[in-house]
Amino acid sequence: MNTVKTVRELRAAVARARNEGKRIGFVPTMGNLHSGHVALITKATQRVDFVVASIFVNPLQFGAGEDLDKYPRTLAADQEKLLQAGCHLLFAPTVEEMYPDGMAGQTRVSVPQLSEGLCGASRPGHFEGVATVVSKLFNMVQPDLAIFGQKDFQQLAVIRALVHDLNMPIQIIGEPTVRAADGLALSSRNGFLSEEQRAIAPEVYRTLTRISDAIKQGERDYPTLINEQIRQLEAAGLRVDYLEIRHALTLRPATVEDRDLVILVAAFLGTTRLIDNLHLNLDAPA
Ligand code: PAF
Repeated sequence: MNTVKTVRELRAAVARARNEGKRIGFVPTMGNLHSGHVALITKATQRVDFVVASIFVNPLQFGAGEDLDKYPRTLAADQEKLLQAGCHLLFAPTVEEMYPDGMAGQTRVSVPQLSEGLCGASRPGHFEGVATVVSKLFNMVQPDLAIFGQKDFQQLAVIRALVHDLNMPIQIIGEPTVRAADGLALSSRNGFLSEEQRAIAPEVYRTLTRISDAIKQGERDYPTLINEQIRQLEAAGLRVDYLEIRHALTLRPATVEDRDLVILVAAFLGTTRLIDNLHLNLDAPA
């Protein structure tokens, strides 16, 4: 696996693969890779001939006071994992390479509606930063398909929308969340948890499962269900940012008639913000 740091080298390497008739798959990441990322690379190797990953901690998607500076940077370990997973090319640019003219005047891509609410409400500008960097990366790599984790459910919806709205010829694939044995969704931020917090963290997924089970059993009083579960999360020691039931495609608040649902949560343990979600299609065969 080759690592390149400039757009010029990236384009040259991808062009070589294209000239050999290869289909290109792309997995954008911020590094500090775990089994969830490895699953995305593995999926890509099954679908295309040439897999490109990127590692770039994108300052544009972090708000003031967020964890940009302490976000773990573990390039050597990441390169090893990518190599083992069958990745062909890693693009690991600097901030200057991605934003050579600085960020203030950078053209932005914004996806209204889907970016509002949920994580968009507590992280203003976050999805604009994501949509902008992903658009840039897509134009740099020009992949046939790109793979993202479903753990960032709203992010995936935003990316699907931007690809559709801007007519990018890229197939977007969402891969199921990889979980620890106790249900906690794998995340680079889990490393920030103390032992005590790590023991509490699985309560996030248990909450989603309880809500999903209740809905499957016919519960339709969503406000009461949500309020009860918020109380339980807070009693367990989490500070809830949001816990909501939404329509899985539009992400608007779910009505009792909706059948394709997603339950989404963001909660703090100390200063670490965990997110998770559970997709529940009431029409899917059991
Ligand atoms: O999900 C992530 O790791 C990031 O938001 C992404 C998609 C790589 C954009 O920086």
